[in-house]
Amino acid sequence: MTDHAYQDLVSLDIQEPIWERFFTVNPLVLVGTRDPGGEIDLAPKHMAFPMGWDNYFGFVCSPSHATAANIERTGEFTVSYPRPSQLLFTSLAASPRQGDGKPVLSVFQTFPAARVDGELLTDAYLHLECTHHATFEGFGRNILITGQIVAAHVAKDALRSSDRDDQQLVHNSPLVSYLHPGRFFSIADSNAFPFPKDMKK
Ligand SMILES: Cc1cc2nc3c(=O)[nH]c(=O)nc-3n(C[C@H](O)[C@H](O)[C@H](O)COP(=O)(O)O)c2cc1C
Repeated sequence: MTDHAYQDLVSLDIQEPIWERFFTVNPLVLVGTRDPGGEIDLAPKHMAFPMGWDNYFGFVCSPSHATAANIERTGEFTVSYPRPSQLLFTSLAASPRQGDGKPVLSVFQTFPAARVDGELLTDAYLHLECTHHATFEGFGRNILITGQIVAAHVAKDALRSSDRDDQQLVHNSPLVSYLHPGRFFSIADSNAFPFPKDMKK
């Protein structure tokens, strides 16, 4: 029986990272921090997600990235959830640094965060402002940086409300998903999830 189950499976070599061998669905956000010289830094992250049901946010980062060092130093960061129309900007934010900063960021339109010292991407549909909560090491090459959300701002067209149909909302204000490795998807169509009766969170 077991042999039959494995017949159509390929067991991967776990001595190597497995994540390039298939696609997974991920979010895509821009994490905003302040460089030591005062310039803003924005960096795309796809390993980025709510840390539970309460107002905490986390993302996986390389400790060698300026984003990690900036958060360690300043104790705060922002998160902007771009729209599909902003995908090119989101990608360009991963351009290599020249000297102390990323020159490409000078063409980005941003506005100041309200509660932390940081910038948010203009026209993104969701903005989070976070204070550094804790950083966790021990995942091989990467670290998990978590923050407490101290302010959140949603574009009016993306805000859920009881008098608005969720399906229509997603259709009118599409979401972007990063399909690792190296593909993306614009989500305008969605279906109500078939939750089991009496499910508890
Ligand atoms: C689509 C995409 C997704 C990425 N996701 C991550 C991620 O989840 N974690 C990470 O550490 N780097 C990720 N990167 C790489 C960083 O964004 C990139 O190295 C960036 O330039 C780092 O900037 P910094 O040194 O200013 O922090 C991603 C890059 C792209 C293009």
